[in-house]
Amino acid sequence: MKLTTKLLAATAIVAASGAHATDLEVMHWWTSGGEANAVSKFADAWNATGNVWVDGAIAGGGDTARPIMVSRIIGGDPPAAFQFNHGRQAEELVEAGLILDITDVSEAEGWADIITPSSLLDSCTYDGRVFCVPVNIHSWQWMWLSNAAYENAGLDVPTTWTEFAASADALREAGVVPLAMGGQSWQQNGAFGVMALALAGQEAWLAVNQDKNAEVVMGPEYTRVFEAFGAARSLSDGLNVQDWNQATAAVIDDTAGAQIMGDWAQGEFALAGEVAGTDYSCLPGLGEVALLDTGGDAFFFPVTGDPEIEAAQKELAALLLSPAVQVSFNSAKGSLPVRPDVDLTTVNECTQKGLDLLASGAMVPAGTQLLAPDTVTQLNDLMTEFWSTPSMTPAEVQQQYADIIADAE
Ligand code: GAL
Repeated sequence: MKLTTKLLAATAIVAASGAHATDLEVMHWWTSGGEANAVSKFADAWNATGNVWVDGAIAGGGDTARPIMVSRIIGGDPPAAFQFNHGRQAEELVEAGLILDITDVSEAEGWADIITPSSLLDSCTYDGRVFCVPVNIHSWQWMWLSNAAYENAGLDVPTTWTEFAASADALREAGVVPLAMGGQSWQQNGAFGVMALALAGQEAWLAVNQDKNAEVVMGPEYTRVFEAFGAARSLSDGLNVQDWNQATAAVIDDTAGAQIMGDWAQGEFALAGEVAGTDYSCLPGLGEVALLDTGGDAFFFPVTGDPEIEAAQKELAALLLSPAVQVSFNSAKGSLPVRPDVDLTTVNECTQKGLDLLASGAMVPAGTQLLAPDTVTQLNDLMTEFWSTPSMTPAEVQQQYADIIADAE
């Protein structure tokens, strides 16, 4: 009998006996409209088992939330569960012995045979043991465009980054901000990474992010990217917002033409009642390469020493990967499920593009799976400085980027 069934059966008995339900505090950074709607599907499922989801949402994005979560954990007052991106973000917490080993759940539930691509489970596995449950596939490799902004300007909706850049002046003349960009550094560096994969190509992108080859950073393929990114800096002038979803809102209300952002943006379009293909268009790989990355989110469970909490943590881990919860959560989040044996309730043309790329294997690992958190922070700081300092030249930044990659572990 699978662990889920045993755990759910046990829960039913406990609930029927009126025994104490277990409250679990769960920390995450999903505070936009779409994100909150999605995480409510997890909470509803957990509460339906007779336990209690104590929501610990932290606003301001992952760069703000992760240090707060870490301080709770190393301060001896950990939540029962927390969301990070799967990959290298939690490796130091795992190495410090602060995260619950859930290999027994993984084995009882057969995750090795379910989770697809298997790299997602690999990104939760440290020294052969499983320490997190991946809950979705989110890819940065997208651009979202307002159909009305282009139609109102008498322009065709671009089908590639190249066409987008060429149309920017005409869009600006029509009173539309060409590129929506928020003010947090992960957004600028994230956009650069997407442009790098799209414009430098998969081989060069992997050489830099996977092999840490600084010579490729200085090579002709990346020179094109630094120049394109430098030229893009002025395209967001006129839109002054902080959070990623505020930038998405500008595309939704047609005051901005496009945004480079991960497919979590779909949760915002959905909540606004926007229809993919009709109201907005989507370009995986910026229309330049047919590739997505296998980024996404996972839940980790701090060691608490409390057997009741530990049993509930393992029950929650199994629940988050259950078919019904995978459908309800990912349909709302705009992400792809981590198991192929489920059909999302509503699959719009953008999600279908993602599923087709996933099925064809046209995927690369995400930066969060390849780069150490410290390296990501250094690159975030460099690229946000570049974006907001017109006097910085692409060549200057290219050298500094190469230096960071040269030192990356
Ligand atoms: C990503 C996360 C997504 C999304 C985004 C913006 O790191 O994987 O779930 O919510 O941050 O907050």
